[in-house]
Amino acid sequence: MAPVTVRVPAKVNLQLSVGPERPDGYHELVTVFHAVSLFDEVTAAPSDELRITVEGEGAAEVPLDDGNLAMRAARLLAAEVGIDPRAHLHIRKGIPVAGGMAGGSADAAAALVACDELWHAGLPAERLHLLAAELGSDVPFALIGGTAIGTGRGERLTPALARGRYHWVFALADKGLSTPAVYRECDRLRAGQASPPVVSEALMTALRSGDPSALGRALCNDLQPAALSLRPHLRLVLEAGEEAGALGGIVSGSGPTCAFLARDEAHALDIAVALSSSGVCRTVRCAHGPVPGARMVRR
Ligand code: C5P
Repeated sequence: MAPVTVRVPAKVNLQLSVGPERPDGYHELVTVFHAVSLFDEVTAAPSDELRITVEGEGAAEVPLDDGNLAMRAARLLAAEVGIDPRAHLHIRKGIPVAGGMAGGSADAAAALVACDELWHAGLPAERLHLLAAELGSDVPFALIGGTAIGTGRGERLTPALARGRYHWVFALADKGLSTPAVYRECDRLRAGQASPPVVSEALMTALRSGDPSALGRALCNDLQPAALSLRPHLRLVLEAGEEAGALGGIVSGSGPTCAFLARDEAHALDIAVALSSSGVCRTVRCAHGPVPGARMVRR
């Protein structure tokens, strides 16, 4: 059994509309996921027991036990096929940890694909998708990538008609934000006044036209006021991106990473330099999207 390496992208939500809380504690969402070229790599190698190692930026904050969604993914897949979960999962982080870019969910998706291959399980895509949805709201999207509309709690996906390649700059923060805490703050700020979410027509039109300026204007995130409330400093980051000439700027998912859209690659570099020198964020990354979801790169 040779080791299997799977590469998996980060996501940014081009739209994140949060409806009322459901009886199961999740919120009804309409979201537009967009996979971008910041990647984690998960290598599954033969081992007597299930264990995880992590390298890369923020590795020290990543749990090595069942708090790690990749560990839970391996266990769930093994139970599904009726075998013992024996694998060494090694994660190389390129996606910011606790950054609102679904890094943990991406690792879970990659672990599903890598272990399926390592253990010759051969599960069909639909079954992997069901396991992914059980693991977390963002895990199914990490399997497919591209640009997709998510409904339910985010796990029900329809590919979006999207044209063109978009160039992004991401401003990374010192410290992560807890997703449940941001949803709680969103509920508190809205005091139960959430209406049912709907797909943004302006965003769909922008994606169909492939016009980055229109896309920049259509970006929207209902979790942004909550992230700004918990981390007021993010306002300065968004202002710095706007001053640097971004076509649009938004908190990514539950934050604290901020995403800025550029006209093209050169413009993205200009924005990245301006953000770096403004000193408002820990570091910046340039990336493009859409990119495919979890894919095997080595065996
Ligand atoms: O699905 P996942 O475990 O990734 O979600 C993490 C947390 O984010 C949930 O425990 C919940 O607090 C919040 N969440 C939510 N509604 C969603 C998705 C996530 O409230 N649709």
